[in-house]
Amino acid sequence: MARIAFPEGFRFGAATAAFQIEGAPAEDGKGPSIWDRFSHEPGRIRTGDTADRACDSYHRWGEDVELLRRMNLRSYRFSISWPRIQPEGRGPANPRGLDYYRRLCESLLEAGIRPFPTLYHWDLPLALEERGGWPERDTAGRFADYADHVARGLGDLVHDWLLFNEPQVFVILGYALGIHAPGRKDPDAALRASHVVNLAQAEAFRAIKARDAAARVGSAFNMSSCEPADPESAADRDAAERFHRATNLWYLEPALRGRYPEGAFERGLPAARMGIEEGDLERLRAPLDVIGINLYTRTPVRAVSGDPLGIGALPVGFGRDEGPRTDFGWEVWHPALHDLVMRISREYHFPEIEITENGASYGEGPGPDGVIRDARRIDFLRGALTALHRAIEEGARVVGYHHWSLLDNFEWTEGYAQRFGLSWVDFRTCERTLKESGRIYGEIAAEGALEADEETLERIGRSG
Ligand code: FCB
Repeated sequence: MARIAFPEGFRFGAATAAFQIEGAPAEDGKGPSIWDRFSHEPGRIRTGDTADRACDSYHRWGEDVELLRRMNLRSYRFSISWPRIQPEGRGPANPRGLDYYRRLCESLLEAGIRPFPTLYHWDLPLALEERGGWPERDTAGRFADYADHVARGLGDLVHDWLLFNEPQVFVILGYALGIHAPGRKDPDAALRASHVVNLAQAEAFRAIKARDAAARVGSAFNMSSCEPADPESAADRDAAERFHRATNLWYLEPALRGRYPEGAFERGLPAARMGIEEGDLERLRAPLDVIGINLYTRTPVRAVSGDPLGIGALPVGFGRDEGPRTDFGWEVWHPALHDLVMRISREYHFPEIEITENGASYGEGPGPDGVIRDARRIDFLRGALTALHRAIEEGARVVGYHHWSLLDNFEWTEGYAQRFGLSWVDFRTCERTLKESGRIYGEIAAEGALEADEETLERIGRSG
């Protein structure tokens, strides 16, 4: 056994997103979002579920805070629903929408938990999609305006902000592949959206800083360690590198360096298709104070030619067949967390990083005694934290870890079929029960440390 102790002040936390937990889609003046519409279209959600009630956190947020408190967590990453604040995506802020988040933040602060909101976790006001959505340049200005409203309405309670959640995922799945909201299959629209989102990120960054220069502002990027599908193939190696730049760095390099990553596309940056205008690159710059990393597994990448985006690379599945698979079929491969954190640290001069999501879908439910013995999640947590600790020892400035998720919730197109929670939710009653993983995570958070056995250490590539 070896004791893995995290630095003083390291924040253990948990994450959720508004659409996945809140329910109450039309309460207190909330407008519809693209996900409200999309999830009601036949055939979109594998299980036929909707998120109309989800975990009912719009009413049960007090229970959520209680779960965080019981786990001794010091940070709660939740998201703010844009259409609660601006039902149509423009105009004045809806005070009843803001009040919901004010109550939540106040209660978190009373419990000694940092509120760490994300401004955009995929629920665009439907009215904005009807005006063109993310491919439309005006949406960047709308987002900055929304950020200003939220900073004004919550700025006395919130110091740390995240702008976007996984921009690459909602742009590609929503606009190129059509499997997430708004369900469009138009690669050119996705390329334009990616540029507008980068502009929006920078403008919203400036909007928050204008209200509070001391605010700490970042974004949560989906990242993965990209590997050649066939390590012997030079073409796959090149493709993996392009894929790293086109996914992991696509919203980071513009913010930190005012340019798009080089070498992401086979034939150079498609500036015209992206709608880049004179003077735009300088406007992309936003010196993020913190880099949020969401990471679940590694990504093998194969070289292809003639793909609609022109990257010349295709991810082949969620991991390889080496590690065990979660119930979602994603490979458990903790070294990816270490490797990716180290790569970003080295390439960007060791920025401050928070792990904003990491977790696994495991379906274990209550036993006859009501206890949820999700041993695989406990194992997952230990492995992930050990890998992360190794990166910290090697100099990475990682200051927080948020497990996805606080609760079992509405997993997008999977409905309620994938359970990522540290707490079990009975979706008939919305009752929550802390799982054994939640109990153990709570012990780790209280100690700021865990005991890792030899096997875990070996798996993560660190000798005891
Ligand atoms: C991420 C999303 C999050 C959740 C997890 C499992 O891509 O940000 O909302 O669905 O995956």
